[in-house]
Amino acid sequence: MPKLKFGLFPVIGLVLLGILTTYYLCIRRCGDSVVTAKSDQQSYRLVVLVLSAPENLEQRDTIRKTWLAGRSPDVKAYFAIGLMNLRPEQKLTLESEHKKHGDLLMLPRLYDSYNTITKKVLQSLTYIHQNHEFEFLLKADDDSFALIDQILRELNRWQLKGTKRELYWGYFDGRARVKRSGPWKETDWFLCDLYLPYALGGGYILSYNLVTFIADNADYLKLYNSEDVSMGLWLAPVSNIERRHDTRFDTEYRSRGCSNQYLVTHKQSMDDMRKLHESYTRYGYMCSHEVSNYLGYQYNWTVPPSQCCERRPGIA
Ligand SMILES: *[C@@H]1O[C@H](CO)[C@@H](O)[C@H](O)[C@H]1NC(C)=O
Repeated sequence: MPKLKFGLFPVIGLVLLGILTTYYLCIRRCGDSVVTAKSDQQSYRLVVLVLSAPENLEQRDTIRKTWLAGRSPDVKAYFAIGLMNLRPEQKLTLESEHKKHGDLLMLPRLYDSYNTITKKVLQSLTYIHQNHEFEFLLKADDDSFALIDQILRELNRWQLKGTKRELYWGYFDGRARVKRSGPWKETDWFLCDLYLPYALGGGYILSYNLVTFIADNADYLKLYNSEDVSMGLWLAPVSNIERRHDTRFDTEYRSRGCSNQYLVTHKQSMDDMRKLHESYTRYGYMCSHEVSNYLGYQYNWTVPPSQCCERRPGIA
């Protein structure tokens, strides 16, 4: 063992004292706030998280002018964008967009690309959880159209039932085979032949504690290519959760059509959004002609997932 010179002890002592003092002061001065501080004092009923690409300004503006317009002040909206691979002038453009609208969630550590979408969701949820108090979160894409006021009404109804469970609400799939090619292929999924039941990504809603669970465990979660598949997996071990399958979420790979029952409808062009919004604000319904392109399904939770989702007439 090397001999310590006597002169070292006071130095070590001082360093230790310094650490202890800092620790003590920190506990005293920021004790409460360490746990609970959120930068935004306001509490929101709903946070809307729309995934968007840097160049999709037009889509964002269309959403701002249509389904996010006139929303109540207890609904906070964000468009999430990764900054890491952007040119300086792109960042400047985004910053001026943010100055104007205050609704960009710019993620400095995210390379924006379709194969980082899961990371985008994870980073966004972590940010939102750190900075805001809220009750529910709606995740959507920038080709989704949603009726926020109807969703809020439904959330009230759901809460009035007095359920104490966490909510994972959307249009579920339990019989999807794991994709091995194409943009949504999963190369290291080994859990099962199928994905675990998950709500399709065009629009789904999570209650606050589920977001907390994900944010708290963000460093441990395995990220798959599809964010919605990943979400189903992340929430699979959670108890006391209501997986609420709802045919009013038109969130399959292409829209089932137009129904005035829909709360969310996916795969909408900007022109579609303007028409839906115009009709909804003018007449109180989205479609003057309801159209059903193919059948939907109710999810049967009592049978194995491979048989969960039989399409039936009468489900638009
Ligand atoms: C689910 O499947 C079971 C067994 O086939 C059937 O008895 C039940 O009625 C189904 N439930 C729904 C909601 O379709």
